[in-house]
Amino acid sequence: MDYPLALIGYPIQHSLSPWIHRTFLEETDLKGNYTIEEIFPARFESEIQYLLDKGYVGFNVTLPFKQKIIPLLDELDDNAKQIGAVNTVVKRNNRLIGYNTDGIGYIRTLEQYYPEFMKNKEKHILIIGAGGAARGIYFALNQFGFQSIDITNRTTENALEIVKGKAAKTYSEVISLSKAQENLKKYDLIIQTTSVGMKPNTEQSPLQLHNLKDSVIVSDILYQPIWTNFIKDAVAQGARIHLGHTMLLNQAQYAFEIWTGKQPSIKGMDQKLKQILEG
Ligand code: ATR
Repeated sequence: MDYPLALIGYPIQHSLSPWIHRTFLEETDLKGNYTIEEIFPARFESEIQYLLDKGYVGFNVTLPFKQKIIPLLDELDDNAKQIGAVNTVVKRNNRLIGYNTDGIGYIRTLEQYYPEFMKNKEKHILIIGAGGAARGIYFALNQFGFQSIDITNRTTENALEIVKGKAAKTYSEVISLSKAQENLKKYDLIIQTTSVGMKPNTEQSPLQLHNLKDSVIVSDILYQPIWTNFIKDAVAQGARIHLGHTMLLNQAQYAFEIWTGKQPSIKGMDQKLKQILEG
C-alpha cells in the first residue's frame, strides 16, 4: 500500500513534520510521501474539500484549522471530542476520522524520559496555560490516573472550562498565575503549555521559577526555541527538565501509527531534531 500523507495549515513552510514523517516512512520501509498543503485562512472553505478528496490517506492539521476541520469529518475519536480539536485525520473506507495525538504524545515522552514519575499517581502536577495543548495534556494525565492536577492561566475562565470535564477521582484547582508562583514548592511536575517565550519573544516567561521542590521536573512544550527562558530558569534552579521537541516526535509517532498501523522507532531522532532546532 502507498501512503500519501500531508500537513494542512498556515503558515507551515518551516514545519518539521515533513522531516519527521519522511524519516518514519524510510524507517518502516513503507512507500509514500509527506507533503505540505498550505491554505491561506481566507480560502479554507473553498480549498479544503479539494484537499480532502485528493487521495491522501492521512494528514495532520495544524493552526489555524484544528477546530475548523471538525464539521468536515465523519467521525471523531474520544480524545479529539474531549479536546475539541483535531490534529490528525485518517481516511478509512472513504470515511474521514479525526484524532488528537497531543495528550498521548506527551504521556509517551514522560514515560520515555521519566518512567519512575509515572508510577506514583499521587504526584502533584501544575499545568500553565489553558489552550488546546493544555487541554490535551490535562485529559491524557487524567486518563492515566494522576490524581492532583492544578491549572493556572492568564484567563481563569479558560482553565475552569477544562477542569469541568475531569475524571471524578482527579482533584484539580484553578489558580491565578501569582498564586501558582507563590506555591511552586507543592509541585512534582510543572508543565508550560502557553505560547509565552516562543520565537520571536524569547525573552518572555509565563512565570518566574523559584522555591521549587528538590525533585521537580520542569517541562516546556515549546520547541522554538528548545531552550526557552522558562527552561533556562529551571536549569538554574537545579530542576530536572523535559524539552518540547520530544512531544513533537511522540505525537507524530502516534499519528503515523494511526495512518499505517506501524510504530516507527524514534530512537536517535530526538538528538537529530534537537540539533536541527539548535541550528
Ligand atoms: P495551543 O493550541 O498551542 O495551546 P492556544 O489554544 O492559542 O494555543 O493557547 C494559548 C495559551 O497561551 C493560552 O493558555 C493563553 O492564555 P489565555 O487563555 O489567557 O488566552 C496563553 N497565552 C498566550 N499569550 C499569552 C500571554 N501574553 N500571557 C499569558 N498567557 C498567554
